[in-house]
Amino acid sequence: MYLKNHFSRIGFILAAAGSAVGLGNIWKFPYVTGEYGGGAFVLVYLLAILFIGLTVFLAEAVIGQNAQADVATSFVKTSKSKNKNWKFAGFILFSGLIILSFYSVVLGWILSYVFTSFGTLPSDAKTAGAAFETLISKDIAAQIAYHTIVAGSVIFIVLKGIKEGIERINLILMPLLGLILLGLLIYSFTLDSFSTAVSFMFSPDWSKIDGNALLAALGQAFFTLSLGVGTIMTYSASLPKNVNFVKSSIMVAIVDTAIAITAGLIIFSFLFEAGAQSSAGPGLVFISLPVIFSGWGFLGQVIAISFFVALVFAGITSAVSMIEPSLKFFIDRFNFTRRKATVICGSTFYLLGIVALLSMTSAYSESLTFFGKNAFDLMDFMTSSVMMPLAAILTCVFLGYFVDKELLQRIFTAHVSNLVFNIWYFLIKFIVPIAIITLFLNKLGIL
Ligand code: PFF
Repeated sequence: MYLKNHFSRIGFILAAAGSAVGLGNIWKFPYVTGEYGGGAFVLVYLLAILFIGLTVFLAEAVIGQNAQADVATSFVKTSKSKNKNWKFAGFILFSGLIILSFYSVVLGWILSYVFTSFGTLPSDAKTAGAAFETLISKDIAAQIAYHTIVAGSVIFIVLKGIKEGIERINLILMPLLGLILLGLLIYSFTLDSFSTAVSFMFSPDWSKIDGNALLAALGQAFFTLSLGVGTIMTYSASLPKNVNFVKSSIMVAIVDTAIAITAGLIIFSFLFEAGAQSSAGPGLVFISLPVIFSGWGFLGQVIAISFFVALVFAGITSAVSMIEPSLKFFIDRFNFTRRKATVICGSTFYLLGIVALLSMTSAYSESLTFFGKNAFDLMDFMTSSVMMPLAAILTCVFLGYFVDKELLQRIFTAHVSNLVFNIWYFLIKFIVPIAIITLFLNKLGIL
């Protein structure tokens, strides 16, 4: 069946996986794993994905499936009372626009590294560090140009709609991303350090695991599965009801996890091969890797280009998913045309992105610092530490206490056994809210 505003089953899986697989997997997961010492963190992360991430993913999916509407309407329609005030839960979709603002800036940096990879890569850590520092703190024109290219591409894709825009770009880019990563994995397999990377990622060093590591794992599980933003809810609203959304959701979580682990193995093999530190932090991809690639001559250049192109592909498919909840909101609730909604939401995130990038530059950082954080960090903090956890708590409490259990049971058991439903319901009602509330209060320094 061809529905213009609906995904096909495979289209949904690829688009949701495209949303999930992003900078969070290839850039962030390896460096956070590195910072927390490897194996033990990976194990905690896998548990967080399985018990908490997947549970909330299914929660968003079931709301979207049931209501087949924008986020605000979906809450109202799914609630037991049909109380109109549930529309305020729709606030969560603004996180997507805010995240997209700085995500587009970071994607712009990566794009600039694609171009740099065609030329000469820095050959030592000092030069590489200085080049990155110059880009983000001084080179305003270049950053705006790259951000404009990224934002323009996102707008161009979403203007075409779910089927012709989002589904199609994912059908093209996701297999390409998979191929590039497979190629890089095969190459790292030939390196002596591959086995060191495997044991780093899979033999647990429990001494590094403390409360912070647990929270980082949980936060990462959320971010990587695109939760707490209304994205999964919105995508599921465009998934025909006869599709098994539980199976599709599990597939997405598996693909996302497999890609994070693959990216980790590739990056740690490269780092260990060059004798570099695994705990280099956020600069790992922008500073440590280019130096390693530069030491490998022509082959290094090919690997560098492939690697940064893979990051761009992964990032673009995530970026389009961040804006879609807002577009659907304006289209469904206010009868806006897709064009009008895209112009409004597109220019909002584009301008916010410029504020974010300016706030990192030496010229404007002072005037764009609020409450001790520059605008870039503030947007990151407000979304990942405040709005996304709040949205996740709200979603769990909503489903556990304000929605008819029979309704949920009916939707689930059309596809899976009652036992699976009961496990999910228990997790969503009791376990997951407690875990996230703990994360939330701890991140805010209250606990
Ligand atoms: N899951 C994406 C990543 O790992 O990079 C980030 C993301 C995408 C977050 C979409 C939120 C979202 F709505």
